[in-house]
Amino acid sequence: MLALVNTTGQRPRNLILIGFMGTGKTTIGKRVAKSLGFKFVDTDSLIEKKAGKPIVQIFKDSGEDAFRSLETEILKECGRKSGQVISTGGGIVTRPENLELLKEAGYVIWLKASPEIIFERVSRNRSRPLLQTGNPQKTIDDLLSKRAGLYAGAQHLSINTDELTMEETCFGVTESTKLALGID
Ligand code: S3P
Repeated sequence: MLALVNTTGQRPRNLILIGFMGTGKTTIGKRVAKSLGFKFVDTDSLIEKKAGKPIVQIFKDSGEDAFRSLETEILKECGRKSGQVISTGGGIVTRPENLELLKEAGYVIWLKASPEIIFERVSRNRSRPLLQTGNPQKTIDDLLSKRAGLYAGAQHLSINTDELTMEETCFGVTESTKLALGID
């Protein structure tokens, strides 16, 4: 039986969920946070709070670059704290400096899903500016192929959620985080 003991005397660091839009980061993150007794935070919500407007409006008013700068700021702020599950926006890996910040913030799990499942999940709402295109399925395919290597470089562990129930994914995420962070 493998037992990891936290001998540092410090509080556990964070769990960070990365992955494409629609892979369940927020839903799973909230449940896992409850199981771990961690605080749940979502970078998109924190960005909206800071900017005082929804993400779609930030993109409209100031463009993607301005959104990315806010995202990096928020990631830095979250990364200084501990004991959180941090759900991140799907594009957080596109800024090279974020890759280091993610790993410094804690244990990084990449939630994966196939393009078809992603499309099914995200096609129902219009809150994602990058998918407001003539052919969202193709946009998803293109973005995914651009980003796959970036997620792979940023993660400590990846979980393919296609064949898993929500409960199974939560269990996998929770238990691997306990091991990684040395939580009983
Ligand atoms: C984005 C993903 C969104 C949000 C923004 C940009 C992306 O977050 O940050 O619309 O570039 O993939 P979710 O992954 O939570 O949908």
